[in-house]
Amino acid sequence: MYSEKVMDHFNNPRNVGEIENPSGVGTVGNAKCGDIMRMYLDIDEQGIIRDVKFKTFGCGAAVATSSMATELVKGKTIQEALEVTNKAVMEALDGLPPVKVHCSLLAEEAIHAALWDYAQKNHIVIEGLEPPVDDIAEKVEDEEY
Ligand code: FES
Repeated sequence: MYSEKVMDHFNNPRNVGEIENPSGVGTVGNAKCGDIMRMYLDIDEQGIIRDVKFKTFGCGAAVATSSMATELVKGKTIQEALEVTNKAVMEALDGLPPVKVHCSLLAEEAIHAALWDYAQKNHIVIEGLEPPVDDIAEKVEDEEY
């Protein structure tokens, strides 16, 4: 049911933890399943994501997708990080079962929420970044469950 990469990232998740004094932190949840994701970003003066950590109270697919998402944004610019969509994360993991696709949105939204926090703190506008939602269930169509 799950690819080897998903199992690997679930069993050995990368970048789990917290960053003290992060440049940005974002938390999103999914009211439908009750899962929660928090992302911490450390961004340098050049706008490069130096470090990223996550914590989750989420299902296995949420753990695996967040782990992969952190790997994909680490060392990237903010604009490059915005291109790390949940689809890109799923591709990097060799796919997810259809009923678990929505789980991959938690990571994407949490990264966006952390970037939004960073932008607010630094009074900047990140082109292409939309205000975060607290609950991604608002964004997901019912039939995707
Ligand atoms: Fe909630 Fe996967 S079931 S994030």
